[in-house]
Amino acid sequence: MKFFVRIRILLTFTAIVFLQHSKAQNPSSVIKKTDKKASLKNSFKNYFLIGAAINAAQIEEKEPNAAILIPQQFNSITPENIMKCEVIHPQWDKYNFDLADKYVAYGKKNKMFIVGHTLVWHSQLSPFINNIQSSDSLMMFMTNHINTVAGRYAGKVNSWDVVNEALNDDGTLRKSIFLEKLGEDYLRKAFELAAKADPKAELYYNDYNIEQPKKRAGAIKLIKKIQASGTKIDGVGIQAHWSINGPPLQDIENSIIEFSALGLKISFTELDLTALPNPWDLKGADVNQNFEGSPFMNPYPNGLPDSLQRKLAKGYEDLFKLFIKYKNKIERVTFWGVNDGQSWLNGWPIKGRTNYPLLFDSNFKPKLAYKKVMALVPKK
Ligand code: G3I
Repeated sequence: MKFFVRIRILLTFTAIVFLQHSKAQNPSSVIKKTDKKASLKNSFKNYFLIGAAINAAQIEEKEPNAAILIPQQFNSITPENIMKCEVIHPQWDKYNFDLADKYVAYGKKNKMFIVGHTLVWHSQLSPFINNIQSSDSLMMFMTNHINTVAGRYAGKVNSWDVVNEALNDDGTLRKSIFLEKLGEDYLRKAFELAAKADPKAELYYNDYNIEQPKKRAGAIKLIKKIQASGTKIDGVGIQAHWSINGPPLQDIENSIIEFSALGLKISFTELDLTALPNPWDLKGADVNQNFEGSPFMNPYPNGLPDSLQRKLAKGYEDLFKLFIKYKNKIERVTFWGVNDGQSWLNGWPIKGRTNYPLLFDSNFKPKLAYKKVMALVPKK
């Protein structure tokens, strides 16, 4: 008798382990179970677009779970890296459209609002650009780049981040090869070129921290100058890289009001809420100190404590309540990544950390934050 009881206990235990293992190995069972109708994109379809930044593996549908989750939950996509200069234009007269073509085709196949990111940015530039000496050559580079890249996807890409991060946090213009060699007018020129290359696409100025008063003032000044020149600019992208310790809701509300007063569309283009401490949070910390591997800076390698899951959920809930309040002024809310595992915040500003900034965990499972956001809109 004892023998059979033991066998039965053993069999039950093995079954449980097997089930857990298969779920972990095959998360799609989790996603499939998610009620397809109940998705971010469907719930918010009368409010604003819901997007995600996707990487090369997701564009090529090499991740089976992302291949299910992305078209299920999102109706807009942004290329996390593959349309940036260093990838798409590696040499003066050489372009590499392989992944960008696949990205646009993926978006068309899934009937999504396709964002292009980004035409003019001081970062992730191809090495040959730093060797450009004359202003004329740099202007030729910028003209060729915008004509060729935006021209190729004219009528397919719905919205371009034409210029990205051209401001310092005090609202002044950021030093870059573009400002140095072309002067401030490079901003207007970039929008003029993009409007010619793709007259249908919406043209955005995109930046981080522009919800903060000083930088917001700088962005408004920049945008007004472009508008005053009669050059087309349609929207402003507030990147929204914020923290679990509270995005500045009042600053965000003021920026929605002030930017929409310029007649612009507003999008939150790179939303994530970091759950980890950063060097600059530490009083007196030397931010250049190498924190790599420091347990203090990577406090939750094995999972986010429930108290912080609730804090993250509250952060997103408060944000989406604000977005819903201004739904007539907001075109799009895009998350900077699909799930926690993909997030750039696992490697920035300190490499090798485990972060939890998005609505889906590393197994593509919807988190409490997802449920709180979804609960804000009445089920149909
Ligand atoms: O492609 C190379 C690969 O060949 C190499 O093996 C690997 C090892 O270092 O690096 C790969 O390049 C990385 C690239 O992402 C592609 O994965 C770069 O090192 C890495 O720096 C780059 O990080 C990207 C970062 O922009 C660069 O500034 C992040 O993924 C991306 O999420 C991030 O996105 C930016 C937005 O474009 C603009 N706003 C801020 C946002 C976060 O920084």
